[in-house]
Amino acid sequence: MRFNYLAAVSLLALLNTATSSPAMAGGDVEAGKSLAITCAACHGQDGNTGLMPDYPKLGGQNEKYLASQLRMIQSGDRAAPLMAGQLIGKSEQQLQDLAAYYASLPGAAGESSDDDLALGEQIYRGGILKKNVSACTACHSPSGSGNSLAGFPNIAGQSMAYVVEQLRKYREGERKTDENNGGMMRQIAGNLTDGEIRAVANYVQGLR
Ligand code: HEC
Ligand code: HEC
Repeated sequence: MRFNYLAAVSLLALLNTATSSPAMAGGDVEAGKSLAITCAACHGQDGNTGLMPDYPKLGGQNEKYLASQLRMIQSGDRAAPLMAGQLIGKSEQQLQDLAAYYASLPGAAGESSDDDLALGEQIYRGGILKKNVSACTACHSPSGSGNSLAGFPNIAGQSMAYVVEQLRKYREGERKTDENNGGMMRQIAGNLTDGEIRAVANYVQGLR
């Protein structure tokens, strides 16, 4: 009897630690799939064919990153006027389910054009030393797949127009979602010119 009581108490403690951190609670892919019907209008049935070129691909993105962005779009910490209405009234569990669903879909490759491709690759792989721009590989990995445990986004094959727009938003301080990561993207993008942003975004679009 006494043993059982202790076992129940420690089991409860375990469950508590497992559910108290939102990042730990997993989403349900099937539940996310039914919630995602309205999302397909803009992100495509496969999550990767955006209605407009600057709409992000979502397939194959890591769950932790997706969930964090959905929370910030819902709260208004990330301004995304077209998206925000979609998330009104959704629970934390529903955001997790949507994140799990899009993470379960395959990613989609893109192609780079030849325009400044060498410059783009140089920035991605080596950064720009004299301007203190870190190599993108350090956090997004050589293949662009990011780091799912850390929640660093997968950017391989991401739409060039979307990447250009996001780097510009970080640079201008319009996107501050990197706050929990020490503002690293604002710092990096802050040192990039328009031409350098276009070059690295073109390279990223062709990464696979
Ligand atoms: C009316 C069009 C539209 C609909 C419908 C829509 N989205 Fe979006 N979504 C966008 C746009 C545009 C952006 C990019 C916002 C920006 O520029 O920051 C975006 C961004 C996102 C992002 C951030 C991606 C990243 O790489 O950071 C996620 C995640 C997302 N949408 C998920 C969803 C989900 C889940 C739904 C359905 C509940 C949905 N979207 C419905 C247009 C839409
Ligand atoms: C020190 C780590 C680090 C480095 C180096 C880094 N990034 Fe990031 N990047 C991140 C993190 C973390 C995020 C997500 C931050 C957030 O929530 O907004 C991010 C977000 C992004 C996004 C937005 C993704 C999306 O789906 O909206 C793009 C695009 C991006 N990075 C491109 C780059 C490029 C290009 C470089 C190199 C010039 C680079 N990053 C260097 C850590 C890094």
